[in-house]
Amino acid sequence: MITGRPLFTTEQIHEKVVELAGAIYRDYEGKEVLAVGILKGAFVFFADIIRALKLPVTIDFIVASSYFKTVSKGETTIYYEPREPVRGRNVLLIDDIIDTGISLNKIRAKILSQVPASLKICVLLNKKERRVIDVPVDYVGFDVPNQFVVGYGLDYENKYRNLPYIAVFKKET
Ligand code: IMP
Ligand code: MG
Repeated sequence: MITGRPLFTTEQIHEKVVELAGAIYRDYEGKEVLAVGILKGAFVFFADIIRALKLPVTIDFIVASSYFKTVSKGETTIYYEPREPVRGRNVLLIDDIIDTGISLNKIRAKILSQVPASLKICVLLNKKERRVIDVPVDYVGFDVPNQFVVGYGLDYENKYRNLPYIAVFKKET
């Protein structure tokens, strides 16, 4: 069940998206970006951030999964990779949350092996305490406590992704 008040409201998320898009714009001004969203969790954040970004953007996706209910399986399976060529492009990986870092580390290595001109990572949420692998993240929206969160694309058993805000989820006991 969803507990208490939203952790981040729709308005707070929107402000943060605009702020992140501004920072990205300043770093990439004059360049083209290949924005790669990590599905499924990033789909809402991805849609908002690319629309806030006043740059020429091409999009593609990676489909990856590592979670079983609320526990990371500790390994990530990649089901779909970008069809867009990566070589020589300025790739911006966009994810909903970095937790252990295992998924982003694997995805980052995969992209780097295809020799992009540059690679940066943008996440909306950072669950610092749980980090196992130290992945370099260039843009972070909010730090979150070590709790399971849902909404704005994030799920529990593939539900709650459509909540327009982010909330803490607790299993009913
Ligand atoms: P990592 O490999 O442990 O960093 O896990 C990354 C992925 O796990 C994220 O992209 C999310 O899809 C999922 N995830 C991690 N923490 C949460 C959470 O609190 N709620 C929902 N999904 C999460
Ligand atoms: Mg994800």
